[in-house]
Amino acid sequence: MNSLQSFLAVAPVAASGAGSGARLAPSSRRARARVSACLATPPPPPPPPPTAAAAARRELSAASLAVVEDEARYLVGTYNRSRVVIDGGRGCKLYDLDGREYLDMASGIAVTALGHADPDVTATLARQSATLIHASNVQYTRPQVALAKRLVEASFADRAFFANSGTEANEAAIKFSRKFQRVAHPDTDAPPAEFLAFSNCFHGRTMGSVALTSKSQYREPFAPVMPGGTFVEYGDLHESKKVIQSGKLAAVFVEPVQGEGGIHSATQEFLQGLREACDEAGALLVFDEVQCGLGRTGYLWAHEAYGVAPDIMTLAKPLANGLPIGAVLVKEKVAAAISYGDHGTTFGGNPLVCQAALTVLDKIQKPGFLAEVSKKGENFKQLLRTKLSGNPHVKEVRGVGLIVGIELDVPAGPLVDACLDAGVIMLTAGKGNVVRLVPPLIISEKELQHAADVIRDCLPALDVATS
Ligand SMILES: Cc1ncc(COP(=O)(O)O)c(C=O)c1O
Repeated sequence: MNSLQSFLAVAPVAASGAGSGARLAPSSRRARARVSACLATPPPPPPPPPTAAAAARRELSAASLAVVEDEARYLVGTYNRSRVVIDGGRGCKLYDLDGREYLDMASGIAVTALGHADPDVTATLARQSATLIHASNVQYTRPQVALAKRLVEASFADRAFFANSGTEANEAAIKFSRKFQRVAHPDTDAPPAEFLAFSNCFHGRTMGSVALTSKSQYREPFAPVMPGGTFVEYGDLHESKKVIQSGKLAAVFVEPVQGEGGIHSATQEFLQGLREACDEAGALLVFDEVQCGLGRTGYLWAHEAYGVAPDIMTLAKPLANGLPIGAVLVKEKVAAAISYGDHGTTFGGNPLVCQAALTVLDKIQKPGFLAEVSKKGENFKQLLRTKLSGNPHVKEVRGVGLIVGIELDVPAGPLVDACLDAGVIMLTAGKGNVVRLVPPLIISEKELQHAADVIRDCLPALDVATS
């Protein structure tokens, strides 16, 4: 299917941001109207008007409709989903229940770094599930210990703790930071217990992580969340230093590259300055690499590009290529403050997930893999700048490696809808005005070229939405 053919296929509706739950999407009817109008928009490029057959192709089959209706009937309404029932995947392609094919430029939400149905991950899961899926953390298992060793040997860290998600990894990092400060300040009942985080940051949705997540609409409906969080503009070292020097902070939480917040990269000066200020004040520095870590930037760890190491790093999304996992990597001084029983989890570090993660690391750490990610990311950004240049809505194409953002001067939803109709799955980010592109790291140059072509072809959807 070429981009024009696929533009005419498929069901509408916006993709939402990283687990944002924000109700961004229009109704399917509105989205369809928007696409029809988009097709009637003058060039460039001039897509033909929709035919009755094309309109019919956008309708859901009875089987898909049944899923959509049962979801509406039986699930808590936390997600405003696209009206697409994903039923299978291979490589960078996804297939819906009605047989339509999509190019996956989202990887779930920056999760499936090795694409779908990776044969090595599949073989690992088959082998390990026939051997041992679960054992409690009351005993040892080989995959968990092997994964900890592997992560420690590949990073700044001395020890690892395993959880089940990004928010859980950050929750553990919050507890570890507070316990570290309690042990470091034995003579007081009120050791430093506060936290600094930044504008546009996203650290998760549990009561601690959400307290350090900047968007107030994620926090306010659930107040009171964990107290003691302060937010400063991302990149404002001067203000950050003032807060850190108060001596009240347990830790500073920062994403070296912000994903959900709109694809913003820190500067070297900012991260280095935070490092120095934390060292002076005795606060810990936590890098949240849940979205930007594990090869996404073309470096195994996003912070490697800056030459600044944290005391704690949190990981999750791609670590087991889609199986639930979170990891907290810590320096020895942090681990030394944690005693038996301070923290734990039933499922964290189970053998199935850890063995999958070892397979993911085998592939991401293969010589040349990360260099390819960097090269493809650079070429893709260049391609987008060339193909989208001249469109008045496109303000900037930015990012590093294969975490790329297109900032618009209007909401990105209509473009994301139109691309979905054209068979390319993308995400929004920022204040809804950024297209977020986080494809599987194995994506080919040809597939990236196709994505860029489709995005260019769908840009008129922005004019229709604003007219
Ligand atoms: C940087 C960052 N931290 C934490 C999280 C939360 O991860 P999870 O949804 O697995 O809890 C996310 C999710 O998007 C994220 O992007």
